[in-house]
Amino acid sequence: MVSLEEVYMGDAIIFYSWSGHCLYVAAKLAEKTGSDLFVLKDDHRKGLLNIVFQGGYRAHKQHHTELACDVPDLSTYKCVTLVAPVWFGYPAPAFNNVVDALPLGSTVKVILVSDSGKSNHEPVEKQLDRHGFKVLEFTDMKQPKHIKDLNDLSYTLEEPCGQ
Ligand SMILES: Cc1cc2nc3c(=O)[nH]c(=O)nc-3n(C[C@H](O)[C@H](O)[C@H](O)COP(=O)(O)O)c2cc1C
Repeated sequence: MVSLEEVYMGDAIIFYSWSGHCLYVAAKLAEKTGSDLFVLKDDHRKGLLNIVFQGGYRAHKQHHTELACDVPDLSTYKCVTLVAPVWFGYPAPAFNNVVDALPLGSTVKVILVSDSGKSNHEPVEKQLDRHGFKVLEFTDMKQPKHIKDLNDLSYTLEEPCGQ
């Protein structure tokens, strides 16, 4: 007998995007799969220098960043897809906020978006392994060229900060 709760447990997609590409990828995927779409926002709009120096350092160290609000509780979802840009080979720091917020042993998919379509897999795989995550997919992709088409996508963001 399947409980009502189980019937309604779909997938979640959670993304961070500084310049729009991951938003596009995540929104397109949500549109295609009917998944719930969650956004992670910086506590304030960060400039390029901040991103390059502080962001790059934190990405490399697999540290957190300051977000506008806590990572939402995604523990009721069967699978969570994390979408993040690559900064100096590593996922942008907001990715680490999500990894640490998810319950141990979560089932996840990872999509890393970059100019080159390449990232430093090994440390990320180790990080996910330390959390006992079951990784269904780990995809590196080149950033889409046409994010200007974002307006053509129909997507709904789950309210950030639960407001
Ligand atoms: C600080 C910084 C570091 C980056 N480092 C890399 C990198 O190491 N390899 C790469 O292919 N692209 C790199 N990029 C490009 C981004 O990964 C790429 O533009 C991505 O699509 C941005 O996603 P967003 O538009 O959702 O923020 C970097 C971009 C920034 C701002």
